[in-house]
Amino acid sequence: MERFEPKKFVSKKVQALRSYAKGRKILVAVSGGIDSLVCFEIARNASIKVQEQIIPLILDTGLLRQNEVKSTEEYFRKKYGIELQKWDVQDRFFSSLKGIISSEEKRNIFRDVFYRTMGQALRSYSAEILVQGTILPDIIETQRGIRIHFNVLNEAGINPQNYGLTIFEPLKELTKNRVKMVAKTLSIPPKFLRLQPFPGPGFAIRITGEITHERVEKIRIATAIVESELSSPKIYQGFPVLLVDRVPGIHNDTVVTGDVIAIRIIETKDYLSARPYRIPWPKIEKITKRILNEVPGVVRVLYDVTPKPPGMIEFA
Ligand code: XMP
Repeated sequence: MERFEPKKFVSKKVQALRSYAKGRKILVAVSGGIDSLVCFEIARNASIKVQEQIIPLILDTGLLRQNEVKSTEEYFRKKYGIELQKWDVQDRFFSSLKGIISSEEKRNIFRDVFYRTMGQALRSYSAEILVQGTILPDIIETQRGIRIHFNVLNEAGINPQNYGLTIFEPLKELTKNRVKMVAKTLSIPPKFLRLQPFPGPGFAIRITGEITHERVEKIRIATAIVESELSSPKIYQGFPVLLVDRVPGIHNDTVVTGDVIAIRIIETKDYLSARPYRIPWPKIEKITKRILNEVPGVVRVLYDVTPKPPGMIEFA
């Protein structure tokens, strides 16, 4: 197999984007994660007039992690002196997802609202190309029919033109590890390399059952707890999930009905298969204690020991 050379990869993609864009305006879909930051760096390097030609945009779906939008805005300001465009589109996502419990439907609705909004954004900035950070496992899983990732369009038989979009995906042949190698070459700060992977549909797929502001807030707090407790480099993805069940528990000597949170922590080489992380007992006890104390209304915490397959990494 040919040795992967991140520097060569970057110059190849910069060249490809430059000849594809031919001076047209580019919108970069930013999420706060490493894939989209690498995309922004590639677009920045491909352009002569960065300020006029490249627009980084984050959609605040209300389904992102604590502080993710704000800290990404600050990063763009500090590192590039650029104002990251932010669209607050929480209402349209929450109203479209209201009452939906099937995970496939959630994903389809998320995709539809996301790309309709991106089409609108493209028109409003007079941009012609959308750059996004789809990576290889998303494409492979979609092609194999394992799961249609919301951000995979062509390979899922969806024409981006239906949304008025022309899409450029510089990372679609890269595994996550290779994206990290590229990020290092581009001097993206190590804190982004250490971020837990977070799927595009965000908390929409970290909740089974209905998506409401109240339920999202619970999983947002639980996610901040789990992520702050996970420091081992062996852990490739770790997160909590809010389950649909409501079960009896005890609060102040009274029987109450409360929520169940499952913790999923996996080790993987390629995200196509995974095994459960053998978490040290004191650590899972600490995480459990914190969730029970800090997340309102949770009465039960479970640890998921399912490999992939048969379990997916995400629950929904
Ligand atoms: P699954 O759940 O398919 O997860 O075993 C494999 C990896 O992909 C991430 N994932 C997604 N990422 N859009 C994304 O950007 C999606 O629709 C999506 N679904 C799953 C998941 O977090 C894991 O890293």
